[in-house]
Amino acid sequence: MERSQVLAAARAYFEAQPKKEFVPGQTYVPVTAKLMDGADLEALVDSSLDMWLTAGRFGREFEATLPAHFGRKTGALLVNSGSSANLVAISSLGSPMAKEFKREPLVAGDEVITLAAGFPTTVNPIVQNGWKPVFIDIDLKTLNALPEAIAAAKGPRTKAVVIAHTLGNPFRSDLISEWCKKEGLYLIEDCCDALGATVADRPVGSYGEFATVSFYPAHHITTGEGGAVLPSDGKWKRIAESIRDWGRDCWCEPGVDNTCKKRFEWQLGNLPYGYDHKYTYSHIGYNLKVTDMQAALGVSQLKKLAGFVETRRKNWKTLYNGVKSSPILSKHLTPVEPTENTNPSWFGFPMHASDALDRDKLTKNLEAKRIGTRLLFAGNLTKQPAYKGVDFRVVGDLANTDRVMKKTFWLGVHPALTPAMITYMLETLESEVKALTT
Ligand SMILES: Cc1ncc(COP(=O)(O)O)c(C=O)c1O
Repeated sequence: MERSQVLAAARAYFEAQPKKEFVPGQTYVPVTAKLMDGADLEALVDSSLDMWLTAGRFGREFEATLPAHFGRKTGALLVNSGSSANLVAISSLGSPMAKEFKREPLVAGDEVITLAAGFPTTVNPIVQNGWKPVFIDIDLKTLNALPEAIAAAKGPRTKAVVIAHTLGNPFRSDLISEWCKKEGLYLIEDCCDALGATVADRPVGSYGEFATVSFYPAHHITTGEGGAVLPSDGKWKRIAESIRDWGRDCWCEPGVDNTCKKRFEWQLGNLPYGYDHKYTYSHIGYNLKVTDMQAALGVSQLKKLAGFVETRRKNWKTLYNGVKSSPILSKHLTPVEPTENTNPSWFGFPMHASDALDRDKLTKNLEAKRIGTRLLFAGNLTKQPAYKGVDFRVVGDLANTDRVMKKTFWLGVHPALTPAMITYMLETLESEVKALTT
């Protein structure tokens, strides 16, 4: 049997699956969903037929094509999640190898400015590395940190800024990266929720030392589990690759030997001369690599990214216009606004409930009507049980973060939503808000 026959059969199998009919009030409208097609299944089967399994030809293609979407020329490093991408990128800032290119690595007790209103694994690697998170408040209008709030948080031990582009609405990484450069600080942009967004006409992720992205099914494209680190240059890439790949000094691809051409001629650490470079470790590392099946899905999904982002923006606009044009909705719900000088790539449609509207009752009632809802991740990270006992610093009172924890929620904008679903979402939102406020 030819490979092409197997691939054609896989595509035909996918396309023959019955489409589920949407029944308002019965069919669940998820807040996030992946959108797959026959080409995705074909790519997945193609990689399986190779039986290579660890990252191979699809991995190389995905690592080569991804950087352009972040305005980067240096190759990407695929990892098994967005959380792993943050772990690798953030840990890289502490590499003693940074001294080789005249950058100071972070050391125990150094501070990193970040947000309390966000996802835990943007912040956790700061703690895991023995550094201190410095939490600042957000702007309610955009759900992002304002550049002046970041500048005000800087202390004598501040060495880096690690912030996510909230729900696909970018923070001003153009202004913040300029300030970081001036102050000698590192910047990591967590783009897990924002693939395709731009800041001052440049892609998010093109501003800091590293960008990170997630390919979990909720996100703009998916590989099942997956993520990537986008280093700004080859020096940071070398460090991040080592941390991803067990901490090894060797940079051979899986299944390849002697890329450095001096495998048995290195003298590193206190090892004897010529100790096999393959088993020489320059970092306390991990193994966070991906399989070629994940990468194959990434290659296939990336081709559809532009269309996905466009649909997300269109769905966000329909929901935004629907809320703004309804007297009762616009009285009780305030949608988050795009950050100035940016073009968001929306992950969801976030809004703030008025004082008179019980957000928790509303989300419960929407879920009962089969409409998926989400909060802004951890709300206020400093109030999470996991952060009890963690050494952090807080700037100000985090009043907006606390308000978001109590009053903010979001609905889906993903490309698997149909116009009928969005109409049902808006009609139900209106009837539920009315029921709770009159
Ligand atoms: C901002 C942000 N960073 C990191 C992550 C972690 O990504 P993953 O689920 O792939 O580990 C998420 C997850 O949704 C996220 O929203």
